Amino acid sequence: TGNPANLLTIFGATGDLAQRMLLPSLYGLQRDGLLPKDLRILGTARSELDAQGFRDSVAATIEQRVAAGESDEASIRDLLERLDYCAAAVDDEASMNALADAIAKARNGDVVYHLSTAPRFYAPICEALGQRGLGGAGTRVLLEKPIGHDLASSIAINDGVTRVFDEDRVFRVDHYLGKEGVQNLISLRFGNALFEPLWNARHIEQVQITVAETVGVEGRGGYYDSSGAMRDMLQNHLLQLLCLTAMEPPAHFDPSAVRNEKLKVLRSLRLIGRNEVGSESVAGQYTAGAVDGVAVPGYLSDLGHASHTETFVALRAHIDNWRWSGVPFYLRTGKRMPRRCTEIYLQFRAVPHSIFATSGVRVEPNAMVILLQPEERIQLTLMHKTPGLDRNGLRLAQVALDLDVDEQFAAHRRRLSYERLYLDAIEGNGTLFVRRDETEAAWQWVDAIFDGWKASGSTPKPYPAGTWGPSSAVAMIERHGHSWRE
Ligand code: BG6
Repeated sequence: TGNPANLLTIFGATGDLAQRMLLPSLYGLQRDGLLPKDLRILGTARSELDAQGFRDSVAATIEQRVAAGESDEASIRDLLERLDYCAAAVDDEASMNALADAIAKARNGDVVYHLSTAPRFYAPICEALGQRGLGGAGTRVLLEKPIGHDLASSIAINDGVTRVFDEDRVFRVDHYLGKEGVQNLISLRFGNALFEPLWNARHIEQVQITVAETVGVEGRGGYYDSSGAMRDMLQNHLLQLLCLTAMEPPAHFDPSAVRNEKLKVLRSLRLIGRNEVGSESVAGQYTAGAVDGVAVPGYLSDLGHASHTETFVALRAHIDNWRWSGVPFYLRTGKRMPRRCTEIYLQFRAVPHSIFATSGVRVEPNAMVILLQPEERIQLTLMHKTPGLDRNGLRLAQVALDLDVDEQFAAHRRRLSYERLYLDAIEGNGTLFVRRDETEAAWQWVDAIFDGWKASGSTPKPYPAGTWGPSSAVAMIERHGHSWRE
Protein backbone atom coordinates (compact mmCIF):
# COMPACT_ATOMS: atom_id res chain seq x y z
CA THR A 1 0.00 0.00 0.00
CA GLY A 2 1.29 3.43 -0.89
CA ASN A 3 4.55 4.88 -2.08
CA PRO A 4 7.97 4.61 -0.50
CA ALA A 5 7.92 6.66 2.67
CA ASN A 6 10.11 9.72 2.95
CA LEU A 7 9.68 10.07 6.69
CA LEU A 8 10.25 7.48 9.40
CA THR A 9 9.19 8.66 12.86
CA ILE A 10 10.41 6.47 15.71
CA PHE A 11 8.60 6.78 19.05
CA GLY A 12 10.85 5.53 21.83
CA ALA A 13 13.92 6.52 19.82
CA THR A 14 16.18 6.60 22.88
CA GLY A 15 14.96 3.25 24.23
CA ASP A 16 16.56 -0.14 24.53
CA LEU A 17 15.18 -1.62 21.30
CA ALA A 18 16.19 1.45 19.32
CA GLN A 19 19.74 1.19 20.62
CA ARG A 20 20.11 -2.54 20.18
CA MET A 21 18.29 -3.10 16.92
CA LEU A 22 16.60 -0.18 15.20
CA LEU A 23 19.49 2.25 14.78
CA PRO A 24 22.05 -0.41 13.88
CA SER A 25 19.58 -1.71 11.26
CA LEU A 26 19.09 1.73 9.77
CA TYR A 27 22.83 2.07 9.67
CA GLY A 28 23.10 -1.26 7.79
CA LEU A 29 20.56 -0.07 5.23
CA GLN A 30 22.33 3.26 4.87
CA ARG A 31 25.65 1.62 4.33
CA ASP A 32 24.32 -0.58 1.56
CA GLY A 33 22.55 2.34 -0.10
CA LEU A 34 19.09 0.85 0.48
CA LEU A 35 17.33 3.78 2.13
CA PRO A 36 15.30 6.04 -0.16
CA LYS A 37 17.42 9.05 -1.09
CA ASP A 38 15.15 11.59 0.54
CA LEU A 39 14.23 9.60 3.66
CA ARG A 40 14.25 11.63 6.88
CA ILE A 41 14.29 9.92 10.27
CA LEU A 42 12.62 11.73 13.13
CA GLY A 43 13.29 10.38 16.60
CA THR A 44 10.96 11.16 19.45
CA ALA A 45 10.92 10.23 23.13
CA ARG A 46 10.47 11.93 26.46
CA SER A 47 14.17 12.75 26.87
CA GLU A 48 14.89 16.43 26.41
CA LEU A 49 17.49 16.27 23.67
CA ASP A 50 18.06 18.52 20.70
CA ALA A 51 18.76 17.16 17.23
CA GLN A 52 22.51 17.37 17.75
CA GLY A 53 22.29 15.56 21.08
CA PHE A 54 20.29 12.80 19.42
CA ARG A 55 22.76 12.52 16.54
CA ASP A 56 25.63 12.26 19.01
CA SER A 57 23.89 9.50 20.91
CA VAL A 58 23.14 7.63 17.69
CA ALA A 59 26.76 7.93 16.60
CA ALA A 60 27.84 6.49 19.94
CA THR A 61 25.31 3.66 19.65
CA ILE A 62 26.54 2.70 16.21
CA GLU A 63 30.13 2.86 17.29
CA GLN A 64 29.30 0.51 20.10
CA ARG A 65 26.87 -1.83 18.36
CA VAL A 66 28.14 -2.23 14.84
CA ALA A 67 31.05 -4.61 14.33
CA ALA A 68 34.31 -2.78 13.71
CA GLY A 69 34.79 -4.04 10.16
CA GLU A 70 31.30 -2.92 9.21
CA SER A 71 31.30 0.67 10.30
CA ASP A 72 32.53 3.38 8.01
CA GLU A 73 32.71 7.09 8.66
CA ALA A 74 30.96 8.24 5.50
CA SER A 75 27.93 6.02 6.06
CA ILE A 76 27.63 7.11 9.68
CA ARG A 77 27.75 10.75 8.58
CA ASP A 78 25.12 10.14 5.88
CA LEU A 79 22.85 8.45 8.39
CA LEU A 80 23.29 11.23 10.96
CA GLU A 81 22.37 13.79 8.32
CA ARG A 82 18.97 12.18 7.95
CA LEU A 83 18.20 12.45 11.67
CA ASP A 84 16.08 14.93 13.57
CA TYR A 85 14.68 14.78 17.06
CA CYS A 86 11.67 16.20 18.83
CA ALA A 87 11.03 15.53 22.52
CA ALA A 88 7.38 14.68 23.17
CA ALA A 89 5.12 12.93 25.66
CA VAL A 90 1.69 11.80 24.57
CA ASP A 91 0.00 13.29 27.62
CA ASP A 92 1.57 16.69 27.02
CA GLU A 93 -0.47 18.58 24.41
CA ALA A 94 2.11 21.25 23.70
CA SER A 95 4.85 18.72 23.04
CA MET A 96 2.56 16.73 20.75
CA ASN A 97 1.76 19.89 18.81
CA ALA A 98 5.46 20.55 18.38
CA LEU A 99 5.95 16.98 17.20
CA ALA A 100 3.07 17.32 14.76
CA ASP A 101 4.69 20.46 13.34
CA ALA A 102 7.99 18.65 12.94
CA ILE A 103 6.25 15.77 11.14
CA ALA A 104 4.27 18.08 8.87
CA LYS A 105 7.42 19.99 8.02
CA ALA A 106 9.53 16.94 7.22
CA ARG A 107 6.83 15.08 5.35
CA ASN A 108 6.67 15.18 1.61
CA GLY A 109 5.29 11.74 0.82
CA ASP A 110 4.32 8.68 2.81
CA VAL A 111 5.11 8.47 6.53
CA VAL A 112 5.95 5.46 8.67
CA TYR A 113 5.40 5.77 12.43
CA HIS A 114 7.19 3.15 14.47
CA LEU A 115 5.80 2.83 17.99
CA SER A 116 8.61 1.33 20.00
CA THR A 117 7.04 2.22 23.34
CA ALA A 118 5.06 0.36 25.97
CA PRO A 119 1.88 -0.94 24.28
CA ARG A 120 -0.37 1.10 26.56
CA PHE A 121 0.73 4.18 24.62
CA TYR A 122 -0.19 2.81 21.17
CA ALA A 123 -3.82 3.90 21.12
CA PRO A 124 -3.18 7.32 22.71
CA ILE A 125 -0.33 8.06 20.29
CA CYS A 126 -2.45 7.06 17.29
CA GLU A 127 -5.33 9.17 18.58
CA ALA A 128 -3.03 12.17 19.04
CA LEU A 129 -1.72 11.75 15.48
CA GLY A 130 -5.25 11.38 14.14
CA GLN A 131 -6.46 14.53 15.89
CA ARG A 132 -3.68 16.46 14.24
CA GLY A 133 -4.53 15.17 10.77
CA LEU A 134 -1.44 12.96 10.60
CA GLY A 135 -3.08 9.55 10.30
CA GLY A 136 -4.74 9.60 6.89
CA ALA A 137 -3.87 8.05 3.54
CA GLY A 138 -0.14 7.63 2.94
CA THR A 139 0.68 6.92 6.59
CA ARG A 140 1.54 3.58 8.15
CA VAL A 141 2.12 2.51 11.72
CA LEU A 142 4.46 -0.18 13.04
CA LEU A 143 3.65 -1.73 16.42
CA GLU A 144 5.95 -3.80 18.59
CA LYS A 145 4.74 -6.92 20.39
CA PRO A 146 3.21 -7.77 22.76
CA ILE A 147 -0.01 -6.15 21.61
CA GLY A 148 -1.79 -6.28 24.93
CA HIS A 149 -1.77 -8.78 27.70
CA ASP A 150 -4.64 -10.99 26.61
CA LEU A 151 -7.35 -11.04 23.97
CA ALA A 152 -9.46 -8.30 25.58
CA SER A 153 -6.60 -5.83 25.99
CA SER A 154 -5.29 -6.55 22.50
CA ILE A 155 -8.73 -5.84 21.06
CA ALA A 156 -8.82 -2.55 22.95
CA ILE A 157 -5.39 -1.54 21.59
CA ASN A 158 -6.20 -2.67 18.05
CA ASP A 159 -9.51 -0.79 18.16
CA GLY A 160 -7.73 2.37 19.24
CA VAL A 161 -5.09 2.04 16.53
CA THR A 162 -7.48 1.14 13.71
CA ARG A 163 -9.75 4.08 14.50
CA VAL A 164 -6.95 6.14 12.99
CA PHE A 165 -5.04 3.72 10.72
CA ASP A 166 -6.96 1.28 8.52
CA GLU A 167 -5.86 -2.31 9.07
CA ASP A 168 -3.87 -2.45 5.82
CA ARG A 169 -1.76 0.43 7.15
CA VAL A 170 -1.03 -1.28 10.49
CA PHE A 171 2.21 -3.28 10.51
CA ARG A 172 2.59 -5.47 13.61
CA VAL A 173 6.19 -6.45 14.13
CA ASP A 174 7.26 -9.96 15.02
CA HIS A 175 10.98 -9.64 14.55
CA TYR A 176 11.29 -13.40 13.97
CA LEU A 177 9.65 -12.85 10.59
CA GLY A 178 12.56 -10.59 9.68
CA LYS A 179 15.09 -13.37 10.27
CA GLU A 180 16.63 -14.98 7.20
CA GLY A 181 16.16 -18.49 8.52
CA VAL A 182 12.49 -17.89 9.23
CA GLN A 183 11.83 -16.55 5.74
CA ASN A 184 13.74 -19.53 4.43
CA LEU A 185 11.02 -21.79 5.83
CA ILE A 186 8.88 -20.44 3.04
CA SER A 187 11.63 -20.96 0.45
CA LEU A 188 12.38 -24.44 1.69
CA ARG A 189 8.77 -25.57 1.68
CA PHE A 190 7.54 -23.88 -1.48
CA GLY A 191 10.71 -23.57 -3.53
CA ASN A 192 11.25 -27.33 -3.50
CA ALA A 193 8.92 -30.06 -4.69
CA LEU A 194 10.74 -32.68 -2.65
CA PHE A 195 9.31 -32.10 0.81
CA GLU A 196 5.70 -31.17 0.21
CA PRO A 197 4.44 -34.73 -0.46
CA LEU A 198 5.89 -35.79 2.90
CA TRP A 199 4.81 -32.73 4.84
CA ASN A 200 1.71 -34.13 6.53
CA ALA A 201 0.33 -36.52 9.10
CA ARG A 202 0.84 -39.57 6.89
CA HIS A 203 4.59 -39.11 6.98
CA ILE A 204 5.37 -36.94 9.98
CA GLU A 205 5.24 -38.41 13.45
CA GLN A 206 5.88 -35.31 15.55
CA VAL A 207 7.19 -31.76 15.33
CA GLN A 208 9.18 -29.87 17.96
CA ILE A 209 9.74 -26.13 17.97
CA THR A 210 12.31 -24.95 20.48
CA VAL A 211 13.41 -21.41 21.24
CA ALA A 212 15.94 -21.71 24.05
CA GLU A 213 17.89 -18.75 25.39
CA THR A 214 20.80 -18.70 27.80
CA VAL A 215 20.10 -15.14 28.93
CA GLY A 216 17.99 -14.30 31.96
CA VAL A 217 15.84 -11.18 32.15
CA GLU A 218 18.77 -8.81 31.57
CA GLY A 219 17.53 -5.74 33.40
CA ARG A 220 14.11 -5.96 31.72
CA GLY A 221 12.57 -7.47 34.84
CA GLY A 222 9.81 -4.89 35.08
CA TYR A 223 8.49 -5.65 31.62
CA TYR A 224 9.26 -9.35 31.72
CA ASP A 225 7.59 -10.04 35.02
CA SER A 226 4.29 -8.67 33.73
CA SER A 227 4.67 -10.80 30.64
CA GLY A 228 6.43 -14.16 31.08
CA ALA A 229 7.55 -16.74 28.55
CA MET A 230 4.08 -17.37 27.18
CA ARG A 231 3.30 -13.74 26.34
CA ASP A 232 6.85 -12.70 25.54
CA MET A 233 7.78 -15.57 23.22
CA LEU A 234 5.13 -18.22 22.66
CA GLN A 235 2.11 -16.11 21.76
CA ASN A 236 4.11 -14.49 18.98
CA HIS A 237 7.47 -15.95 17.91
CA LEU A 238 6.75 -19.65 18.46
CA LEU A 239 3.26 -19.49 17.01
CA GLN A 240 4.59 -17.69 13.95
CA LEU A 241 7.17 -20.45 13.48
CA LEU A 242 4.40 -22.99 13.90
CA CYS A 243 2.29 -21.22 11.26
CA LEU A 244 5.07 -21.13 8.70
CA THR A 245 5.88 -24.78 9.35
CA ALA A 246 2.30 -25.98 9.16
CA MET A 247 0.45 -23.68 6.75
CA GLU A 248 -0.94 -24.74 3.39
CA PRO A 249 0.89 -23.44 0.32
CA PRO A 250 -0.24 -19.86 -0.30
CA ALA A 251 -0.99 -19.16 -3.96
CA HIS A 252 1.27 -16.09 -3.95
CA PHE A 253 3.94 -14.58 -1.80
CA ASP A 254 1.88 -11.54 -0.92
CA PRO A 255 0.40 -10.12 2.28
CA SER A 256 -3.13 -11.51 1.96
CA ALA A 257 -2.25 -14.94 0.64
CA VAL A 258 0.44 -15.67 3.24
CA ARG A 259 -1.44 -14.26 6.19
CA ASN A 260 -4.68 -16.00 5.24
CA GLU A 261 -2.86 -19.32 5.42
CA LYS A 262 -1.21 -18.52 8.75
CA LEU A 263 -4.57 -17.51 10.18
CA LYS A 264 -6.11 -20.83 9.16
CA VAL A 265 -3.43 -22.64 11.17
CA LEU A 266 -4.07 -20.51 14.24
CA ARG A 267 -7.78 -21.10 13.96
CA SER A 268 -7.21 -24.86 13.68
CA LEU A 269 -5.26 -25.05 16.93
CA ARG A 270 -7.10 -27.32 19.32
CA LEU A 271 -8.06 -25.45 22.44
CA ILE A 272 -6.14 -26.52 25.52
CA GLY A 273 -8.88 -26.05 28.07
CA ARG A 274 -9.13 -26.49 31.81
CA ASN A 275 -9.31 -30.27 31.54
CA GLU A 276 -6.24 -30.58 29.35
CA VAL A 277 -3.97 -27.89 30.69
CA GLY A 278 -2.49 -30.07 33.44
CA SER A 279 -1.35 -32.80 31.05
CA GLU A 280 -0.61 -30.69 27.94
CA SER A 281 1.37 -27.78 29.34
CA VAL A 282 4.19 -27.08 31.78
CA ALA A 283 5.30 -23.73 33.15
CA GLY A 284 8.67 -23.29 34.81
CA GLN A 285 10.72 -20.67 36.58
CA TYR A 286 14.51 -20.79 36.83
CA THR A 287 16.32 -20.97 40.14
CA ALA A 288 20.02 -20.41 40.75
CA GLY A 289 22.30 -22.57 38.66
CA ALA A 290 25.06 -22.36 36.09
CA VAL A 291 25.00 -21.52 32.41
CA ASP A 292 28.13 -22.20 30.38
CA GLY A 293 29.99 -22.94 33.59
CA VAL A 294 29.14 -19.57 35.11
CA ALA A 295 27.03 -19.41 38.26
CA VAL A 296 23.88 -17.32 37.82
CA PRO A 297 21.18 -16.27 40.28
CA GLY A 298 17.59 -17.45 40.10
CA TYR A 299 14.73 -15.46 38.59
CA LEU A 300 13.46 -14.22 41.95
CA SER A 301 16.84 -12.76 42.87
CA ASP A 302 17.14 -11.23 39.40
CA LEU A 303 13.78 -9.66 40.05
CA GLY A 304 14.14 -8.80 43.71
CA HIS A 305 10.66 -9.88 44.76
CA ALA A 306 8.30 -12.84 44.78
CA SER A 307 6.63 -13.79 41.51
CA HIS A 308 4.70 -16.56 39.79
CA THR A 309 5.75 -15.47 36.31
CA GLU A 310 6.91 -18.34 34.11
CA THR A 311 10.32 -18.16 32.43
CA PHE A 312 9.77 -21.47 30.65
CA VAL A 313 6.81 -23.02 28.95
CA ALA A 314 6.33 -26.32 27.16
CA LEU A 315 3.14 -27.38 25.41
CA ARG A 316 1.72 -30.13 23.28
CA ALA A 317 -0.35 -28.53 20.56
CA HIS A 318 -2.54 -30.06 17.88
CA ILE A 319 -3.62 -28.61 14.59
CA ASP A 320 -7.00 -30.08 13.87
CA ASN A 321 -7.10 -30.14 10.08
CA TRP A 322 -6.62 -32.74 7.34
CA ARG A 323 -2.92 -32.20 6.97
CA TRP A 324 -1.94 -32.46 10.61
CA SER A 325 -4.60 -34.52 12.31
CA GLY A 326 -3.02 -36.49 15.16
CA VAL A 327 0.50 -35.00 14.84
CA PRO A 328 1.70 -33.42 18.08
CA PHE A 329 3.51 -30.10 17.82
CA TYR A 330 5.63 -29.76 20.94
CA LEU A 331 6.54 -26.17 21.67
CA ARG A 332 9.00 -25.02 24.28
CA THR A 333 10.80 -21.85 25.13
CA GLY A 334 12.75 -20.71 28.14
CA LYS A 335 15.33 -18.40 29.62
CA ARG A 336 18.52 -19.73 31.21
CA MET A 337 18.59 -22.92 29.18
CA PRO A 338 21.90 -24.77 28.71
CA ARG A 339 22.49 -23.25 25.27
CA ARG A 340 20.98 -20.83 22.80
CA CYS A 341 19.06 -22.75 20.21
CA THR A 342 16.15 -21.99 17.95
CA GLU A 343 15.13 -24.96 15.88
CA ILE A 344 12.32 -26.79 14.20
CA TYR A 345 12.54 -30.55 14.29
CA LEU A 346 10.31 -32.74 12.16
CA GLN A 347 10.46 -36.43 12.85
CA PHE A 348 9.19 -38.69 10.08
CA ARG A 349 7.35 -41.93 10.69
CA ALA A 350 9.36 -45.08 11.30
CA VAL A 351 9.87 -47.60 8.49
CA PRO A 352 6.73 -49.77 8.27
CA HIS A 353 8.76 -52.96 8.74
CA SER A 354 12.41 -53.41 9.55
CA ILE A 355 14.30 -56.03 7.58
CA PHE A 356 17.20 -55.59 10.02
CA ALA A 357 15.35 -56.57 13.17
CA THR A 358 16.85 -60.05 13.36
CA SER A 359 20.37 -58.65 13.35
CA GLY A 360 19.44 -56.41 16.26
CA VAL A 361 19.86 -53.19 14.28
CA ARG A 362 17.79 -50.23 15.40
CA VAL A 363 16.39 -48.21 12.53
CA GLU A 364 15.94 -44.64 13.69
CA PRO A 365 13.23 -42.59 12.04
CA ASN A 366 14.36 -39.93 9.57
CA ALA A 367 14.23 -36.36 10.72
CA MET A 368 14.63 -32.90 9.36
CA VAL A 369 16.20 -30.29 11.60
CA ILE A 370 15.99 -26.66 10.69
CA LEU A 371 18.35 -24.80 12.98
CA LEU A 372 17.79 -21.04 12.95
CA GLN A 373 20.03 -19.85 15.79
CA PRO A 374 22.80 -19.46 16.82
CA GLU A 375 23.78 -20.57 13.32
CA GLU A 376 21.69 -21.57 10.34
CA ARG A 377 21.86 -25.18 9.37
CA ILE A 378 19.53 -27.70 7.75
CA GLN A 379 19.97 -31.38 8.42
CA LEU A 380 18.24 -34.45 7.13
CA THR A 381 19.06 -37.53 9.14
CA LEU A 382 19.33 -40.86 7.36
CA MET A 383 20.29 -44.40 8.20
CA HIS A 384 23.49 -45.38 6.44
CA LYS A 385 25.50 -48.58 6.23
CA THR A 386 28.53 -48.55 8.45
CA PRO A 387 31.41 -49.63 6.22
CA GLY A 388 32.78 -53.04 7.10
CA LEU A 389 32.30 -56.79 6.64
CA ASP A 390 29.90 -57.69 9.38
CA ARG A 391 29.00 -61.39 9.70
CA ASN A 392 25.37 -60.90 10.74
CA GLY A 393 24.35 -58.77 7.82
CA LEU A 394 24.59 -55.00 7.94
CA ARG A 395 25.42 -52.48 10.58
CA LEU A 396 23.63 -49.16 10.25
CA ALA A 397 24.45 -45.73 11.60
CA GLN A 398 22.46 -42.54 11.72
CA VAL A 399 24.12 -39.78 9.66
CA ALA A 400 23.05 -36.36 8.44
CA LEU A 401 22.93 -34.57 5.14
CA ASP A 402 24.06 -31.31 6.57
CA LEU A 403 23.75 -27.90 4.95
CA ASP A 404 25.75 -25.20 6.70
CA VAL A 405 23.87 -22.16 5.48
CA ASP A 406 26.34 -19.65 6.85
CA GLU A 407 29.17 -21.32 4.99
CA GLN A 408 27.13 -21.77 1.81
CA PHE A 409 26.36 -18.06 1.74
CA ALA A 410 29.58 -16.87 3.36
CA ALA A 411 29.81 -13.97 0.93
CA HIS A 412 26.51 -12.51 2.13
CA ARG A 413 26.30 -10.24 5.14
CA ARG A 414 23.90 -11.45 7.82
CA ARG A 415 21.17 -8.89 8.18
CA LEU A 416 19.47 -7.77 11.35
CA SER A 417 15.74 -8.54 11.33
CA TYR A 418 14.84 -4.87 11.29
CA GLU A 419 16.73 -4.24 8.09
CA ARG A 420 14.23 -6.41 6.22
CA LEU A 421 11.28 -5.13 8.26
CA TYR A 422 12.12 -1.44 7.88
CA LEU A 423 12.65 -1.79 4.16
CA ASP A 424 9.29 -3.52 3.77
CA ALA A 425 7.52 -0.98 5.96
CA ILE A 426 9.06 1.92 4.06
CA GLU A 427 7.85 0.34 0.83
CA GLY A 428 4.46 -0.57 2.29
CA ASN A 429 4.75 -4.37 1.99
CA GLY A 430 3.00 -6.10 4.90
CA THR A 431 3.75 -9.74 4.07
CA LEU A 432 6.20 -10.15 6.96
CA PHE A 433 4.02 -8.34 9.49
CA VAL A 434 1.26 -9.78 11.61
CA ARG A 435 -2.36 -9.04 10.83
CA ARG A 436 -4.90 -8.21 13.51
CA ASP A 437 -6.86 -11.44 13.13
CA GLU A 438 -3.63 -13.45 13.57
CA THR A 439 -2.65 -11.85 16.86
CA GLU A 440 -6.21 -12.11 18.13
CA ALA A 441 -6.48 -15.80 17.22
CA ALA A 442 -3.15 -16.38 18.97
CA TRP A 443 -4.34 -14.56 22.09
CA GLN A 444 -7.54 -16.49 22.18
CA TRP A 445 -5.67 -19.78 22.20
CA VAL A 446 -3.12 -18.61 24.77
CA ASP A 447 -5.83 -17.11 27.02
CA ALA A 448 -7.44 -20.53 27.40
CA ILE A 449 -4.16 -21.91 28.75
CA PHE A 450 -3.85 -19.05 31.24
CA ASP A 451 -7.41 -19.65 32.27
CA GLY A 452 -6.61 -23.31 32.87
CA TRP A 453 -3.51 -22.48 34.92
CA LYS A 454 -5.49 -20.03 36.99
CA ALA A 455 -8.41 -22.40 37.56
CA SER A 456 -6.09 -25.16 38.73
CA GLY A 457 -4.13 -22.77 40.93
CA SER A 458 -0.88 -24.16 39.55
CA THR A 459 2.33 -22.16 39.74
CA PRO A 460 5.51 -22.56 37.66
CA LYS A 461 7.75 -25.48 38.57
CA PRO A 462 11.31 -24.56 39.51
CA TYR A 463 14.20 -25.59 37.28
CA PRO A 464 17.86 -24.84 37.89
CA ALA A 465 19.38 -22.31 35.48
CA GLY A 466 21.37 -24.21 32.86
CA THR A 467 18.90 -27.08 32.50
CA TRP A 468 16.19 -27.80 29.91
CA GLY A 469 13.31 -26.85 32.19
CA PRO A 470 11.37 -28.69 34.91
CA SER A 471 11.36 -32.48 34.85
CA SER A 472 7.60 -32.39 34.28
CA ALA A 473 8.31 -31.08 30.77
CA VAL A 474 10.19 -34.30 30.11
CA ALA A 475 7.43 -36.35 31.69
CA MET A 476 4.84 -34.58 29.53
CA ILE A 477 6.45 -35.54 26.23
CA GLU A 478 7.46 -39.03 27.34
CA ARG A 479 3.89 -39.84 28.28
CA HIS A 480 3.18 -39.61 24.58
CA GLY A 481 6.08 -41.82 23.57
CA HIS A 482 8.36 -39.02 22.38
CA SER A 483 11.36 -37.24 23.81
CA TRP A 484 12.80 -33.78 23.50
CA ARG A 485 15.65 -33.43 21.09
CA GLU A 486 18.76 -32.19 22.84
C1 BG6 B 1 12.07 -10.72 22.22
C2 BG6 B 1 11.76 -11.02 23.65
O1 BG6 B 1 10.88 -10.56 21.48
O2 BG6 B 1 12.81 -11.79 21.66
C3 BG6 B 1 13.02 -11.29 24.44
O3 BG6 B 1 11.06 -9.94 24.23
C4 BG6 B 1 13.87 -12.34 23.76
O4 BG6 B 1 12.72 -11.69 25.76
C5 BG6 B 1 14.06 -12.00 22.30
O5 BG6 B 1 15.12 -12.42 24.41
C6 BG6 B 1 14.76 -13.12 21.55
O6 BG6 B 1 15.05 -12.70 20.24
P1 BG6 B 1 16.25 -13.33 19.44
O7 BG6 B 1 16.19 -12.61 18.13
O8 BG6 B 1 17.49 -13.06 20.22
O9 BG6 B 1 15.96 -14.79 19.33
